[in-house]
Amino acid sequence: MRTLSCLVFLLTVELLAQVGLALAADVQLSEPAAPVSAQSVVMQQKQDVPEGFGIANNDHRAPYHLDSWVGLAMLFSALGIAVALNHPSGATRRIGYFSCALVLLGIGGGLLLMRFNGVFANFEEAALPPDVAKPFLLTFQALLAIVGGLYMLWLGATANGEPDKTFANANEEARYGQYSRYLHWVTAFIFLLLMPMGVLMSALSHDIGLLQYMYVIHKALGFTLLILVFVRLIWNHVSPRPALSRSLNPWESKLAHIVHISLYVVLFAFPITGYMMSTGAGKWSHFFFVDTPLLFEPSMEIVRPFGLLHKVLLPYLFYLIIFGHVVGALKHHYIDGDVDSVRRMVS
Ligand code: HEM
Repeated sequence: MRTLSCLVFLLTVELLAQVGLALAADVQLSEPAAPVSAQSVVMQQKQDVPEGFGIANNDHRAPYHLDSWVGLAMLFSALGIAVALNHPSGATRRIGYFSCALVLLGIGGGLLLMRFNGVFANFEEAALPPDVAKPFLLTFQALLAIVGGLYMLWLGATANGEPDKTFANANEEARYGQYSRYLHWVTAFIFLLLMPMGVLMSALSHDIGLLQYMYVIHKALGFTLLILVFVRLIWNHVSPRPALSRSLNPWESKLAHIVHISLYVVLFAFPITGYMMSTGAGKWSHFFFVDTPLLFEPSMEIVRPFGLLHKVLLPYLFYLIIFGHVVGALKHHYIDGDVDSVRRMVS
């Protein structure tokens, strides 16, 4: 039974990766779909929103809500992989490594395919000065996904006969528990998916039908992430996180604390600023099958600051934090020789 469910799961992930690649190859051919929402009529009035602030009309949904279904499939795949990667059974963890590899290689390959299909050429009409860096950013993210995918493939290939492990559900004094791990990995997957997806959305030509569906998926997963961050905060309260490693210097502990808080700020700020920017531009947002309300009258006074936050400041702040996080973790692991910090989350 377990083998069968693993097989079905793997096939689903494989299918998703293939659909992603097919869409990537086909991206320039898609036609805009017909509007389906009655509310969208309001949106057909032309808004006075300048280029570069998420201005593509997002009043279309895919037929039969296919966009929302794909968004849900992505969410459940992320959840499935997060559970598999942290599963007590060595065999299931191995399946998790392979599934993760497949998805990462699918994303990286898809982005590279688009790169060489000339899909990013639209960036030449950069609306904001940092836009010129986007082709590079996307290519870099594609390469990172491919390297990550190959690493996962290697982990899967060498994990034959990995022993089973036992985890408590709640956090322990020195290790994160099962629930925190699931929440951590599913949040990380969705976030890391939304980043290139957002940059890609801003790169695609506005008359591409696929763009409308990507908006729906991006916004639905963005709101989901906001909910997950709330759940995570509540869970941290119910089951306090393990203390920071004792081997950290006082300044390192302080820095680690600042990085943690900044990550939470970014996780909250991204969806909120995205929603404000979209509403300010008079665009609907979506939580899967439901259109979320426009909270106020469209106004450029709102689009500009929130657009700058969502599209420039927060992404670059995030890149900086992640860079610091990775450098800090590597230094701690390899230079200070403390393997426990990493183990608290991954073993
Ligand atoms: C954690 C959640 C989210 C992350 C990490 C995220 C990330 C991003 C990124 C990196 C971009 C690309 C910006 C650029 O390079 O121009 C983007 C664009 C965008 N995001 Fe989000 N986003 C999130 C949630 C949301 C939500 C909840 C909404 C709306 C309800 C939203 C709406 C948009 C829109 C409209 C764009 C502009 C696309 C364009 O320029 O055409 N985002 N997002």
